[in-house]
Amino acid sequence: MQQTKTILDVEQIRKDFPILNRKIHNKPLVYFDNAATSQKPSVVIDAIKNYYEQSNANVHRSIHQLGEEATEAYEKSREKIAGFINADSSQNIIFTKNSTEALNLLAYSLTSSLKKGDEIVISQLEHHSNFVPWQQLAKQKGLNLKFIEINKNIELDKESIKKNITKKTKIVSVGHISNAIGTINPIEQITKIAHENGALMVIDGSQAAPHMPLDMEKINSDFYVFTGHKMLGPTGVGVLYGKKELLENMQPFLYGGEMINEVKFEGTTFNQLPWKFEAGTPNIAEAIGLGIAIDYLQKVGMGGIHEHDKELTEYAMEKLSKVRDVAIYGPKERGPIISFNVKGVHAHDVSQILDSEGVAIRAGHHCCMPLMGVIGVAATARASFYLYNTEEEVDVFIKAIDKVKKVFGV
Ligand SMILES: Cc1ncc(COP(=O)(O)O)c(C=O)c1O
Repeated sequence: MQQTKTILDVEQIRKDFPILNRKIHNKPLVYFDNAATSQKPSVVIDAIKNYYEQSNANVHRSIHQLGEEATEAYEKSREKIAGFINADSSQNIIFTKNSTEALNLLAYSLTSSLKKGDEIVISQLEHHSNFVPWQQLAKQKGLNLKFIEINKNIELDKESIKKNITKKTKIVSVGHISNAIGTINPIEQITKIAHENGALMVIDGSQAAPHMPLDMEKINSDFYVFTGHKMLGPTGVGVLYGKKELLENMQPFLYGGEMINEVKFEGTTFNQLPWKFEAGTPNIAEAIGLGIAIDYLQKVGMGGIHEHDKELTEYAMEKLSKVRDVAIYGPKERGPIISFNVKGVHAHDVSQILDSEGVAIRAGHHCCMPLMGVIGVAATARASFYLYNTEEEVDVFIKAIDKVKKVFGV
């Protein structure tokens, strides 16, 4: 099997993912839809099964062996996540359902103290999850929502960053890597500018956490969110990292059991961090599964994964850019995502023909409808890579693009 020239033993890694043995329309599966969700290694699947078979109980309440085992595994997973992103304490790590819930939590809690006319800055590149919550809250509270514009290369425009973030800005929220295009945003610079203007900085790391080493102390944003299912973990679990003093001063997002300290007829006091933000029974098996996914990622090595994904993306970019009548969107230097269109062919048709060759990609607006409008397309086809993908698979993908062109007479 052909491999990229990195330190990853991709052939060995592939054996850990049972789904990669599947055939699609009698062809080997080539899974290039990793930006939508990643596949899961056996250790994660087994951990979930094992939890339900051996330790199933509710967390933080039952004083019996199973209850203690479940609580310990759940809290251990939180510690692993803190280590994974170099957060200074696991108290800063809140389990959510996904990135979307983490961003909604922030939009509700952070805007509760804002007043009419205060400004929130996002960008034209954002996923709907980092767009619609701010838009709706801004509407309800009379806040001003502003957008950092993209340049011709589909990168955040430097002048637009400076122009939009001002002393009136209270919150800046941008993605680390664009899911629709692959653009890597200068998040450390934007964080610095936000802080110089007295604003809070939120980063949507959904597409970065799976692919690169992260260091919260270095990035220095106030909040950073990501979602378990894109980084080998199960669906139903996400992470909100926040600076402790800020989380302590924020209002809870959901009220109910678990997030309380004392409840009286006259009023309620809230639990300490992180449980203040984890109302009700959490997704215990999923949180434990995410911890196992993180063990797996760290065993392979995030540095190696980053290098592998980068090399494979460069290889695919080189090959795809040589195919005539294919338009690739965005900068050359990018995350492991390639957004493109075949001239005169709808992205859905591209995806369907690729599927007939066993190649799974995404086609559509990628939950970035405003961005598609700015670029001037209704949809794109998107191939996205991860640690188990190979150059050989890229070659299959390129051949399948040739088939698209033949079928449509391009
Ligand atoms: C950049 C980005 N933000 C947010 C999300 C939302 O993630 P989830 O659906 O897991 O909440 C996604 C998922 O595609 C994403 O790519």
